[in-house]
Amino acid sequence: MISRSTSSAPGKVILFGEHAVVYGRPALAVPVTQVHADVEILDSNSTGIWIHAPDINLHSELNALPSDHPIASVIHNFLFLSRQSVSPLGRGAGGEGKFPNLNIKISSSIPVASGLGSGAAVTVALLRALSSHLNYPMTDEEVNAFAYDIEKIHHGTPSGIDNTVIAYAKPVYFIKGRLIETFKVGAPFTIVIGDTGISAPTKKSVADVRKLWEADKAKWESVFDEAGDIAKQAKEKIETGDWRLLGGLMDQNHALLQEMTVSSPELDRLVEAARKAGASGAKLSGGGRGGNMIALIERENADDVSSALISAGAKNTIITQVS
Ligand code: PMV
Repeated sequence: MISRSTSSAPGKVILFGEHAVVYGRPALAVPVTQVHADVEILDSNSTGIWIHAPDINLHSELNALPSDHPIASVIHNFLFLSRQSVSPLGRGAGGEGKFPNLNIKISSSIPVASGLGSGAAVTVALLRALSSHLNYPMTDEEVNAFAYDIEKIHHGTPSGIDNTVIAYAKPVYFIKGRLIETFKVGAPFTIVIGDTGISAPTKKSVADVRKLWEADKAKWESVFDEAGDIAKQAKEKIETGDWRLLGGLMDQNHALLQEMTVSSPELDRLVEAARKAGASGAKLSGGGRGGNMIALIERENADDVSSALISAGAKNTIITQVS
């Protein structure tokens, strides 16, 4: 019988604190389950490890891919890890045995390079499917640490927020280097996510913010402090159920992100359109320069704000409840 393993990981959205989080300030992020990465692994009769990812037009044997390819690097690193000598938990075959023959199918509804965590979601789903298929159980902490190492290969100096919120699939109040802290949602609230349709690599915007910081550390440390303070206040409002007060904080956070030069005319247009259509606040979300923005809305305004975003150029919207 052919054995089969599957796994899925959600997208994520950053509510507050992107970029400043790279410099040790807190940020808030939540999973977005409407979009997800899905992985299926089947034993194969053909030799090798075959990867099929139709969304990115990838059909290849593992060894035909460069070793630093985002998907190949997850598989290589996992195989290396699982072949280390038998761990204290009794996992891992150890030794140099033959590689398994596998068919790995990867699909994702998370737009690439758009601030919704597509890379981290594929890594986490792939890792969990491999760990189950090859009988090498991993804890959430191990999955998270592994996914962070992969993020570091591809994103320069990531804070680790993406892999953390996706590996735990929980709302996260994230401070780089600290133990994971989740937060309670006192009363559920609704946000609409608007996609500019422009893919923008986070690595570049993070590197540009670093150049600004290097040129005037005192100035940017104080901007990051302001962003961190907004994230702290937002956490309190969410926990006490005062979510209506988040709109103003989103607007303030967006202004700081504009100052960091990571907004764009398209993002600003969507943010403005959401506010005009009744959102109580809006901001870009994630690396910026493209990708997604979020707006805080009353549930009954969701369709109006969503249509206004589409009229202002959004390629897609997602209405999601934070609960
Ligand atoms: O992956 P994105 O685009 O959601 O951005 C991650 C958030 C940043 O703060 C810009 C970078 C990071 O590593 O935290």
